[in-house]
Amino acid sequence: MREASFHLDGQDWLQDPYSVYHRLRREDPVRWSQELGHWVLTRYRDVISVLRDRRFSAANRPPQRRWGRPTTMVNADPPEHARLRRVAARPFNHQAVEAIRPVIQEAVDSLLDGVSGQVDLVEVLARPLPLLVICRIMGLSERARDVLMRELVAFSPGAGRRRAAMMAQGMPSSPDDDYWRSVVEEHRTAPSDDLVCQLIAARQQGLLQDDEELVDTVVLLYVAGMETTIGLIGNSLLALLRHPDQWALVSRDPGLARQAVEECLRYDPPVHAVSRRALADVEIGGRLVRRGEKVLCLLAAANRDPEVFPQPDRLDILRQGSDHIAFGSGIHTCLGALLARAEGEVAIATLARRFPRMRLAGEPAVEGSLIVRRVTRLPVALA
Ligand code: HEM
Repeated sequence: MREASFHLDGQDWLQDPYSVYHRLRREDPVRWSQELGHWVLTRYRDVISVLRDRRFSAANRPPQRRWGRPTTMVNADPPEHARLRRVAARPFNHQAVEAIRPVIQEAVDSLLDGVSGQVDLVEVLARPLPLLVICRIMGLSERARDVLMRELVAFSPGAGRRRAAMMAQGMPSSPDDDYWRSVVEEHRTAPSDDLVCQLIAARQQGLLQDDEELVDTVVLLYVAGMETTIGLIGNSLLALLRHPDQWALVSRDPGLARQAVEECLRYDPPVHAVSRRALADVEIGGRLVRRGEKVLCLLAAANRDPEVFPQPDRLDILRQGSDHIAFGSGIHTCLGALLARAEGEVAIATLARRFPRMRLAGEPAVEGSLIVRRVTRLPVALA
């Protein structure tokens, strides 16, 4: 049999991962990849079935084992998973996200006020927005926010030169554990209702076992929504601007921004894959996955499965009943999904209202990996 090669990295994949995924799905939908050390799944039904199956564990991914045990929900299995998720859940539920919506709107407005002509929308909007919002939810001071913003600019993909300059100045590679411990200590002395204080209270009630779990949860909630939400906003805007008929729909009716975000999350999601480890021998699509082997669930491939999404390569913001899995599925479904959606929706609706005739004005840049693949530069002419 012909041995087809599928490179899930490199320039071809980066520029057009979806052709690679279609080929994989057609030719070998449950494929063992020696290179990745994973079974690679591309069909919607296989991906969903693994993510909802307790015989697959999430406890196989770095950096979760830095304390010799999982300390965050991302890499915990039941029953630990529910405990770690519950203590962090409140700011991300429907009511809390609706309550924070005016803050998101205010942040978007302030980022766009005075902006005109040709700009990079990643720099002016997509990158700063998630940071402003999560800092507000976590109750971080303006000083902390400035430190984090500098780090984010310096260490974002595509910031090679700035990164080199900062390292030459001896600046740390990203806020380290000591930094986050000091954030927690600051909150201990000034109790309020923000997320860090809620986690401190959970620690006092014994719901978090120790300070490592507390600090790791704080770090997780800061990191998990950063590159991902930047990607949601950037990738969505690129998809819409590359399909001027779709952008025209949103600019005529900014109320369609919510649907546009959903379709863009299906069409070009920031997170392409999540990994699991089999706790037992399991058959998937006629192949035997043995206990201990790892499985890569390609969410971005499942989102283009023609069995579930007719004409999957078409961006159609009016598509009905789109059940995409850009936020995963099962017990690990993204905790921040409602927040990320709200940020995307407000960003897109506000741009549509302010700059209905906005268009691409130069070559966008895309960077990343299976973990986060996103637009890093999006030059547009505002009009
Ligand atoms: C567009 C933006 C986002 C995308 C595409 C995204 C995607 C995902 C995906 C695919 C998972 C599942 C991981 C797995 O099954 O192994 C996940 C989990 C998670 N996400 Fe997001 N995420 C986004 C934004 C956010 C935000 C804004 C936050 C919070 C501030 C957040 C917090 C989390 C957490 C805590 C988990 C782990 C949930 C658990 O293990 O129970 N995410 N996310």
